[in-house]
Amino acid sequence: MRHTIIMSALAGCVLLSACGQDARAPRHYVDENGKVVEIPEGETESSVRQGKAQAINTDFTPPRFEDMPQDEFGALVRRGYEIFTDTPTHAAEFSGNQLSCSNCHLDAGRKADSAPLWGAWVRYPAYRSKNERVNSYSERLQGCFMYSMNGKAPPTGHEVLAALEAYSFWMAKGAPTGTTLKGAGYPKQDKAPQPPDLARGEKIYQENCALCHGEDGQGQVAEGKTVFPPLWGSESYNWGAGMHQLNNAAAFIRANMPLGRGGSLSEQESWDVALFINSHERPQDPRYTGNLAETRKLYHDTPHSPYGQEINGKLLGSNPSK
Ligand code: HEC
Ligand code: HEC
Repeated sequence: MRHTIIMSALAGCVLLSACGQDARAPRHYVDENGKVVEIPEGETESSVRQGKAQAINTDFTPPRFEDMPQDEFGALVRRGYEIFTDTPTHAAEFSGNQLSCSNCHLDAGRKADSAPLWGAWVRYPAYRSKNERVNSYSERLQGCFMYSMNGKAPPTGHEVLAALEAYSFWMAKGAPTGTTLKGAGYPKQDKAPQPPDLARGEKIYQENCALCHGEDGQGQVAEGKTVFPPLWGSESYNWGAGMHQLNNAAAFIRANMPLGRGGSLSEQESWDVALFINSHERPQDPRYTGNLAETRKLYHDTPHSPYGQEINGKLLGSNPSK
């Protein structure tokens, strides 16, 4: 008898869920936009709602150029824009080649998937393995001058840095900070589907890239201005620059090249052509210690860097462009 009571009490418990948590409470709710939101195991409607409120929307559209303010702040922003889009002219003192920042950060630093400035601004200060410490945004910019521009870092607090900071800050207007926005950085992969191949890369280059960048990779200059930037040699980025790493170059190329036809090469083709470009000599890494193997070990100890490796019978970095 007693036994039966316990049994039926238990059964009731299961059926009505009157014990402890109410398992019959709906496992979904309808939000303000009429969307059905599932409530995962162990959560309640209010905990899900709270979580959603805290989740950051990482979609971002930068302000329009027309909306650049007309005051003194706007003047510094505009100065940053000029430096960014014509670096050899507006930061001549710190430029060591024919490149402008916007050659690799397209649409004047606005384009998603080409390391846009709005995506960068909200990520700093950040730890960088490149120098094993937390870098301010300004230090990050100094690095670009030393490596990508093969030039000199503007001293801390210099007006050139202030202008580039103002331009980046303005472009990130309204973006959540301390987060990775959609389209920030280059859409990097860890590895190529197959090992990159030099011969395939050369063929892809001649068919898809040489038209603008030249068969000799030297690009084209018209009236003293770079129209198509060089990809190797003395006027290109040096062996310390991010673009010499195959994962960065492949990601940039896949998303953005051939110009206006980003996304048309396959992942594999992008790696192959990235290897082809970066198997040519370029200016020395400014951190060169006097010993190639040692410099590789110190700063390039990654499969993404061809520096100090023998490719096609050439030891890269042993005969840097001057
Ligand atoms: C030769 C191509 C090239 C040029 C020229 C270049 N950059 Fe970059 N830039 C890169 C690469 C590659 C990265 C690394 C992206 C990564 O690691 O995801 C980068 C990263 C950055 C970042 C950090 C982006 C982020 O989201 O964290 C900033 C800021 C930046 N560059 C600014 C500049 C400025 C300012 C200039 C001009 C003074 C410049 N770059 C010139 C290729 C270039
Ligand atoms: C229609 C002309 C055109 C074609 C074709 C083209 N590019 Fe470019 N490329 C450009 C221009 C212009 C820039 C600079 C973008 C800017 O300033 O807005 C650039 C920038 C680059 C950069 C970064 C800047 C530098 O000098 O390092 C790389 C790398 C690059 N292209 C590689 C390639 C590769 C690889 C291909 C072939 C798959 C290719 N490009 C095809 C016009 C072209």
